[in-house]
Amino acid sequence: MTAEPLLTSSLPSDLDTERLPRHVAVIMDGNGRWAQQRGLPRIMGHRRGVDTLKKLLRTCSDWGVMALTAYAFSTENWGRPLEEVDFLMTLFERVLRQELAEMMEEGVRIQFVGNLQSLPASLQTEIDKAVQQTRHNPGIRFTVATNYGGRQEIVQACRAIAKQVQQGKVALEDIDESMFAHHLYTAGLDDPDLLIRTSGEMRISNFLLWQLAYAELYVTDALWPDFNTLEFHQALCAYQKRHRRFGKV
Ligand code: IPE
Ligand code: IPE
Ligand code: MG
Repeated sequence: MTAEPLLTSSLPSDLDTERLPRHVAVIMDGNGRWAQQRGLPRIMGHRRGVDTLKKLLRTCSDWGVMALTAYAFSTENWGRPLEEVDFLMTLFERVLRQELAEMMEEGVRIQFVGNLQSLPASLQTEIDKAVQQTRHNPGIRFTVATNYGGRQEIVQACRAIAKQVQQGKVALEDIDESMFAHHLYTAGLDDPDLLIRTSGEMRISNFLLWQLAYAELYVTDALWPDFNTLEFHQALCAYQKRHRRFGKV
């Protein structure tokens, strides 16, 4: 067994603890291009991407970010070649199995958002296990969006609410923003303050459509496997320079 040293790093001195985003969301994009640039198969980029996510989770936890949400697989990603989809599903399963003990040690509370019922059964089993085991952990709240689509999430919330109306359990007047948010996969999780997307793409790609209403957006050209602590530091510096107005003056 190789024991990696447990290095904890504290918040860089040019960052203000008081103005840290409480919840950071990431669109982990550019794995395929990272691999292709090196003449490697795309899957090698996904493999490397896992290391990036592990490090980011650790850094967020060390620096006092309360919640991290990562986009791992979209409802549209099923349209990729079968081998790539299969590889990703197996990778998620293996990583979950391998990382559970460490997440317990570090107090990470993991949860998943998305249409989980359509994932392979063996992956669902690992997901249930990790969620159950870590659910009382006191540390960072780590949310993985898997088979997640923002539109799909909104539609399923509408259906659930409509059903309650149909059954006479809910009156139309009871439907408001907070009630609606309660029917999303992210119920109970505060909206992200900062969204980071790697690989230079300036789009949301169906991620957290409702929840990102007032998030600050940060796009870096770095490909996801290259998104390191320095890059994250830069994203937080940019965030702290923003003036969040929430529609006011
Ligand atoms: C993001 O990297 C990972 C997933 C969508 C699963 P990509 O696989 O989209 O990499 P690029 O965008 O093709 O480079
Ligand atoms: C978004 O990346 C989805 C994930 C990171 C899981 P994509 O690579 O799928 O997005 P597009 O196709 O560039 O919009
Ligand atoms: Mg991509």
